[in-house]
Amino acid sequence: MQYRQLGTTEIQTSVVGFGAWAIGGWMWGGSDEKEAIRAIDAAVDHGINLIDTAPMYGYGRSEEIVGKAIAGKRDKIVLATKCGLRWDTKDWQKGEGVLHFYGNNKGIAADGKFRVYKYLRPESIRWEIERSLLRMKTDHIDLLQTHWQEETTPIVATMETLLRLKEEGKIRAIGVSNVTVEHLRQYQAVGQVDVAQECFSLIDRQIEHNGILDFCKANGVSLLAYSPMANGLLTGRLSPDRVFNEGDLRRENPRFSPENINRVNSMLREFSDVAEKYHATLGQIVIAWTTGQYEKTHVLCGARSEKQVIENAPAGDMVLTEENLQTISDIAAEAGII
Ligand SMILES: NC(=O)c1ccc[n+]([C@@H]2O[C@H](COP(=O)([O-])OP(=O)(O)OC[C@H]3O[C@@H](n4cnc5c(N)ncnc54)[C@H](OP(=O)(O)O)[C@@H]3O)[C@@H](O)[C@H]2O)c1
Repeated sequence: MQYRQLGTTEIQTSVVGFGAWAIGGWMWGGSDEKEAIRAIDAAVDHGINLIDTAPMYGYGRSEEIVGKAIAGKRDKIVLATKCGLRWDTKDWQKGEGVLHFYGNNKGIAADGKFRVYKYLRPESIRWEIERSLLRMKTDHIDLLQTHWQEETTPIVATMETLLRLKEEGKIRAIGVSNVTVEHLRQYQAVGQVDVAQECFSLIDRQIEHNGILDFCKANGVSLLAYSPMANGLLTGRLSPDRVFNEGDLRRENPRFSPENINRVNSMLREFSDVAEKYHATLGQIVIAWTTGQYEKTHVLCGARSEKQVIENAPAGDMVLTEENLQTISDIAAEAGII
């Protein structure tokens, strides 16, 4: 496993991370707690030290499972969570925060009982971090990221709170997620941003065009690439016959139609020569392509089982040549998957 410095901090972090959204079950058609804990154990055994979760992933469930899984090995983990999505506040009645969506226990639902707000007030961040610490049974978070951005709280107030939490030792690094370059500029004007967590995969390359990747490169900000396998589409393991459970975000998504899964699988098969050269699976090549795009990238691979982790982790050892990286980019561009 390769390790890279997180932002400008001292924290050495594995290039492949464990994404803990799916193990919360919410938006993923449920999950199996025992299997999830085995998956995290396997991740640590295979050199993955970065675990990324969020309170929103199952209204606390993912954090609770992560807490159980890391008991006894907390010192080996770079623990990343988030703040800024609240389903349990009525402060919106005072005009604070921005409605993000309605949700139920399975996922996003127009008639759901939870009103989920984007909310980054200083008091709210402090309230949230205490709950995350309790759920994960720890006394500090290595990386705290603002999950989504909102306009009712000045970024300067949010960033000053994060910097204070760092001074107090409650967090060791500061990250932001789902930002624009303008957001990044405003955060960075107050203090060093260590991480931008953004959607990035072979078929989701917006950050290369909207200035975010350039900003990261110019300011020593690490990229945490989220949904690097496009929610499983790029693993090479997805069958067109797959039936997604109720509540699974992929169930109604045209990206996961049998026709599109077939198209993507055909594209992936074109990587076979490169995969053979590295004795790798197609999914591993996709992950290694992602780590190869920027030297401060960490790829957050979502996984729900030991088997998936054991397949994904070795991609953290692979360094593709410039020529191979280009070949893969060209094949993907030609396939034109959206
Ligand atoms: N900041 C944000 O707003 C944000 C948004 C999205 C994600 N994230 C972070 O990024 C992480 C990863 O993103 P993601 O979960 O959306 O998607 P992903 O990593 O692109 O895909 C994960 C899914 O692919 C399937 N999979 C993974 N490895 C596999 C393997 N070896 N063989 C077969 N199937 C495999 C699993 O689903 P099945 O087993 O069900 O097929 C798994 O849940 C999240 O967990 C979260 O930490 C952050």
